[in-house]
Amino acid sequence: MKIKALYTGSFDPLTNGHFNIIERAAKLYDEVTVGVIVNPSKKSMFTLEEREDMIKEALKDFDNVKVEHFSGLLADYVNSNKFNVVVRGLRATMDFEYEIQMAQMNARLFDSSVETVFLMTDPGYSFISSSMMKEVHSLGGSIDGLVPESILKRMNEKLACK
Ligand code: COA
Repeated sequence: MKIKALYTGSFDPLTNGHFNIIERAAKLYDEVTVGVIVNPSKKSMFTLEEREDMIKEALKDFDNVKVEHFSGLLADYVNSNKFNVVVRGLRATMDFEYEIQMAQMNARLFDSSVETVFLMTDPGYSFISSSMMKEVHSLGGSIDGLVPESILKRMNEKLACK
């Protein structure tokens, strides 16, 4: 059976922490979809279309990874697209409380065969978040090695337009 995995997030922007999870998921599963959403509770730097485009560029070397966007309930998207696995990254204990709540709620909503699978974030990236990358970058700090190079280029361009 072909195993289809989904990795979701707002990815504003995609970081090397996300990239590392996707790279590992691509080795574990036959097909990985990166599902980009707008998180209405967050102020974004990039539009949904920009993010999707940037992520496609950063992941262009993976044969079994595709990038899509969706809105609404995660479980509806998972069930209607017949995903088998939802991959989540855990950075530290701070993520655990939120993630377990979400996984348990989703377990009620997912079709019975769908599982949430957690991958531990690489320790080199466990302290980063998209917001931190935006803040440090906008204040002139270096985020080299913490976001893919193609993403850093787009962040530089965005900052120059301000
Ligand atoms: N490395 C580095 N940073 C990471 C990371 C990793 N491996 N994993 C997560 N992060 C960061 C993200 O960049 C993000 O940073 P930010 O808060 O500065 O933007 C932060 O950790 C939180 O990530 P995440 O929990 O994935 O939030 P999100 O906004 O990116 O995505 C969804 C949230 C999409 C997973 C969730 O809101 C969702 O499923 N929404 C759909 C609606 C729904 O079904 N709701 C009911 C759920 S039960």
